[in-house]
Amino acid sequence: MSSSLTPPSATKKASQPTPQPLPVPPAAAEPAPTVVRFDHVTKQFNPQVRGLDDVSVEIARGEITVLLGLSGSGKSTFLRHVNGLQQPTSGHINVLGQAMEHASKPTLRSMRRRIGFIFQDFNLVGPMSVLENVCTGRLGALKGPRLGLMFYPKQVRQEALEQLERVGLVDRAYQRADTLSGGQQQRVAIARALIQHPDILLADEPVASLDPVSSRGVIELLQQISREKSLTVICSLHQVEIALNFGDRIIGLRSGKVVMDERTAEVGRDEVLSIYSKVSDVPDYPDFSESAGAVEVDLAGLKPEDRG
Ligand SMILES: Nc1ncnc2c1ncn2[C@@H]1O[C@H](COP(=O)(O)OP(=O)(O)OP(=O)(O)O)[C@@H](O)[C@H]1O
Ligand SMILES: [Mg+2]
Repeated sequence: MSSSLTPPSATKKASQPTPQPLPVPPAAAEPAPTVVRFDHVTKQFNPQVRGLDDVSVEIARGEITVLLGLSGSGKSTFLRHVNGLQQPTSGHINVLGQAMEHASKPTLRSMRRRIGFIFQDFNLVGPMSVLENVCTGRLGALKGPRLGLMFYPKQVRQEALEQLERVGLVDRAYQRADTLSGGQQQRVAIARALIQHPDILLADEPVASLDPVSSRGVIELLQQISREKSLTVICSLHQVEIALNFGDRIIGLRSGKVVMDERTAEVGRDEVLSIYSKVSDVPDYPDFSESAGAVEVDLAGLKPEDRG
């Protein structure tokens, strides 16, 4: 079964130079087109809870935007509005030229094929092989159910192998997904999203359940892919240090409101504390860990009952 597929690296002739990613062009005179526009978007879940509060932002093609904010600030709600999983109570959302509010179900389905989504808990099918998990990224474009790897067209399986090679896991193609480490599973989830050929990649806390080293690997991979393909990435994170290194731009949310919108190149390290205090409501947020690349709160000075 599997022998009919060739790992992509094996098909390259020895004399052929490895294709290099296209160099990132210098800043063009023309600004990149806007691919996501929120215009006074409010989402009222119920009379007490506002998920988004008068949010107006424009996100350009190829930009990596990080959403930062405390739990409940509206990060996931923002992402779900981008791919039409949730509709605004008021305001307008335009994604890839398509007005998303009041879009028909078929329109939303076809939009979601152009928008990849990566989750904190990977959402892989554990007992399924890595390769088949990647193939499922194409389900939206194929008619009818697929009852196993061999029910996918060979071309899809071949491309799934190519995507696995891209994320460095082609040697694990036939292993059960749930036998991989967390970092490896997130790489499979990225390969599954890439096989969709998305125009936009949404990532909801993609490294929240990973150790610092795996987190860095996953984030660097997302950054490389975004640069290579001019892929627009919108990613929610809790780690300020990673956000500053990874993003082109940070949007800070608090209670559904945009309380900060900065280019990371223009934000100095010294401003990190003030950034987080803006999104967290805490005037002087405690120290950040440099080594782990994550926000760490110094608990030493707290009473045991305050340590959570
Ligand atoms: N379907 C829903 N029904 C009612 N309230 C909701 C719903 N989804 C989200 N909320 C509320 O909207 C607010 C924003 O939630 P959201 O999940 O977007 O936060 P978040 O920033 O992603 O948090 P976290 O960091 O914990 O993932 C929260 O108060 C949440 O309880
Ligand atoms: Mg969330």
